[in-house]
Amino acid sequence: MTAQLPSEVVVSAGTAGPTKSLLRFLTCGSVDDGKSTLIGRLLYDSKLIHDDQLDALRRDSLKHGTTGEDMDLALLVDGLEAEREQGITIDVAYRFFSTPRRSFIVADTPGHEQYTRNMATGASNSEAAVILIDARKGVLTQTRRHSYICALLGIRHVVLAVNKIDLVDFSAERFHHIVGDYFGFAQTLGFASVTPIPISARYGENVTSRSGRMGWYDGPTLLEYLESLDAEHDLAERPFRFPVQWVNRPNLDFRGYSGTVASGAVAVGDRVIVAASGRESVVSRIVTADGDLREARAGSAVTLALADEIDIARGDVLAPAAARPEVVDQFAAHVLWMAEDAMLPGRSYLMRIGTKYVPARVTTLKHKIDVNTLEHIAAKTLGLNEIGLCNVATATPVAFDPYAENRETGGFILIDRYNNSTAGAGMIAFGLRRATNVHRQSLTIDRDTRLRRNGHKPAILWFTGLSGSGKSTIANLVEKELYGLGAHTYLLDGDNVRHGLNRDLGFTDADRVENIRRVGEVARLFVDAGLIVLCSFISPFRAERRMVRELVGQGEFIEVFDDTPLEECIRRDPKGLYSRAKEGKIKHFTGIDSPYEVPEHAELVLSTRHSTAEDAARRVIADLRARQIIS
Ligand code: ADX
Repeated sequence: MTAQLPSEVVVSAGTAGPTKSLLRFLTCGSVDDGKSTLIGRLLYDSKLIHDDQLDALRRDSLKHGTTGEDMDLALLVDGLEAEREQGITIDVAYRFFSTPRRSFIVADTPGHEQYTRNMATGASNSEAAVILIDARKGVLTQTRRHSYICALLGIRHVVLAVNKIDLVDFSAERFHHIVGDYFGFAQTLGFASVTPIPISARYGENVTSRSGRMGWYDGPTLLEYLESLDAEHDLAERPFRFPVQWVNRPNLDFRGYSGTVASGAVAVGDRVIVAASGRESVVSRIVTADGDLREARAGSAVTLALADEIDIARGDVLAPAAARPEVVDQFAAHVLWMAEDAMLPGRSYLMRIGTKYVPARVTTLKHKIDVNTLEHIAAKTLGLNEIGLCNVATATPVAFDPYAENRETGGFILIDRYNNSTAGAGMIAFGLRRATNVHRQSLTIDRDTRLRRNGHKPAILWFTGLSGSGKSTIANLVEKELYGLGAHTYLLDGDNVRHGLNRDLGFTDADRVENIRRVGEVARLFVDAGLIVLCSFISPFRAERRMVRELVGQGEFIEVFDDTPLEECIRRDPKGLYSRAKEGKIKHFTGIDSPYEVPEHAELVLSTRHSTAEDAARRVIADLRARQIIS
């Protein structure tokens, strides 16, 4: 996944003289609806095709075309579907054309459901969408899906291009029937405008030039519409938002904040606040490479200097005091999943919102949305291309606007912390303020007090490994030894915890994440209570072991990997579970039909294959001494 959400802001090139505005739009439909032909037609009619290309096109049309003697304009556009068949992966194809009035970037994405994430990427970068309908077929399931995704990704203006109108004899009745159908459904989606246009991409009717055969239609041609659509207005009208990209401090005399104006405008003398801290100051200069400006608008990359020295860091958002963004650490958002690995509630991802990076997790998946019927479905995880409404919690508060109000400050991406790929894209619906009147209580008996009395440091000894590897046996021996030494300990064991605290959890990936999350929180409390906590859990995922590691201080998490190989565990099979799993009687069994991710940086690696559990336990104790947890 190369393309990223949320969208970059549209920038009109800052050259001298009048600049042509730029419109980015998306085409939705499949090859069968005439999407490639339509794009080909726009490129052809705007004279972007060179003579030699035209000659080639004439030849190819006769050979491969589907249009008889005529030129097949679809051949101008390398159909994405065709490229995919050849195994070439293209997320979104962007094509450029321009007319004397305006420049355009068309995002062309495949229409099938398995490419929902690609379509969403294209949509997030577009201000308008052309939704293609085959006049013979009318509104289809895919039409609804495409419209929903456009609406979700913040597209406000839609053209309903009823194509192949020539094949229904330019029938006004058919056109109006389709339009009626579409409006009935699109009403709920909240577009600012829906403009239906009857077209024939193949013959160019109502695409760039007016049709002589549809006297009953008096609206604009597609190109007229695209040339006149006022979409930039949308962004400029929003309140000023400036996510700080970096603090620019070339010398002691100058401190500025560099970034791109995400929305609205700012002028020298404006009062601004830092969204998170509420600190205020006045814009004293707007600096660019070409000299100072008096004012900067959405899309301009500038450096702002302020009258006062206030604390501002990368990721902060500057805004007008009178129109602040919300600042919360929990919100509801639609999340579109873009990774092969399912989204697991409780797992920690890295969120990028504006210029800020912050660890975040989905706390609740409220429901999944069937993109074809818009039905809400109960679910525990989100798979590739699925969309769900989630509650999301961030490690520190973030400034945002609801996505419907501002795509620049309301969109975020979730990044997989292991491979750094984009895992999901989110659109914030609203902030959640549930816990704002709950504050941390400061306590008199604190960690240091306990530490002095206990005579040892607290720690989490995290035993991970396959079922039957011997980790619980070793943990048990270690605890006995520590107890004998007078240490304060507690042992949390997978099988035991699953009888009480985690009675409600099974062995799906999602449940295992939640299992470890809860255990991690309990272990953290015990560390706070001054104990050496021994945890014995398969804990098959790196992400959750790391999550527990990050819950406690440096050096307080000691990962002990029991590296007994699977064959040996199967041979031992102390509880008879492996044989039952192999017979298919237990599902999702680790090592059989559920994965185990081997630790990469465990503090200690043990194996009971060639040594006894007692030896292993002695090694753990020696390690605790070396780390000065115990003396
Ligand atoms: S974890 O994966 O979520 O960390 P946990 O350590 O709590 O697992 O529980 C593992 C124990 O549950 C195993 O030792 C085994 O006794 C039992 N168990 C029952 N079903 C399964 C299964 N499908 N996969 C793994 N362990 C299972």
